[in-house]
Amino acid sequence: MTAQPPSRIVAIYPGSFDPITNGHLDLISRGSKLADRLIVAVLQNQRKQSLFTVAERVEMLTEVVRPYPNVEVGSFHGLLVDYVAARGANFILRGIRAISDYEYELQIAHMNRLLSPGVETVFLMAAEAYSFVSSQLVKEVASLGGNVSGLVPPLVEEHLRSRVAK
Ligand code: PNS
Repeated sequence: MTAQPPSRIVAIYPGSFDPITNGHLDLISRGSKLADRLIVAVLQNQRKQSLFTVAERVEMLTEVVRPYPNVEVGSFHGLLVDYVAARGANFILRGIRAISDYEYELQIAHMNRLLSPGVETVFLMAAEAYSFVSSQLVKEVASLGGNVSGLVPPLVEEHLRSRVAK
């Protein structure tokens, strides 16, 4: 009997990341320790109004994940499970901040399992310190001149400042 090579964990962490917050970054950091390869994937969604273009989001993400050698950044359109298959991944990573996230995440996870039964969704609980942080709130606070330092990486803070100043 020949020994089977150990199976590699390739995980996709999908999202809008408009923009990436420290909550996302915490999840990337923890997810990178669980997966052999972690691909952070920005959804190209024409129906959703965004502050940053997909290219800008990918650029910011690429910069902030630089310290993690097994993390890469991509973007996708269409079905997430198709992107998962195209990248040879076997897991989807998502974060849950509070019980209010749970129902939405449960629906997505069930739908994705129906579409692609071999792909598991793995959830990590968001760090307590970031349990209230969302891209939406960060954008609102920044657009009203509030301080978002500590909630997003410094590079994102700079981009937010110059974008809302326009
Ligand atoms: O950060 P978000 O906006 O909550 O992320 C949502 C995301 C990207 C995970 C979800 O909208 C998604 O996977 N969209 C791709 C389209 C798809 O596969 N839909 C069917 C499963 S819900």
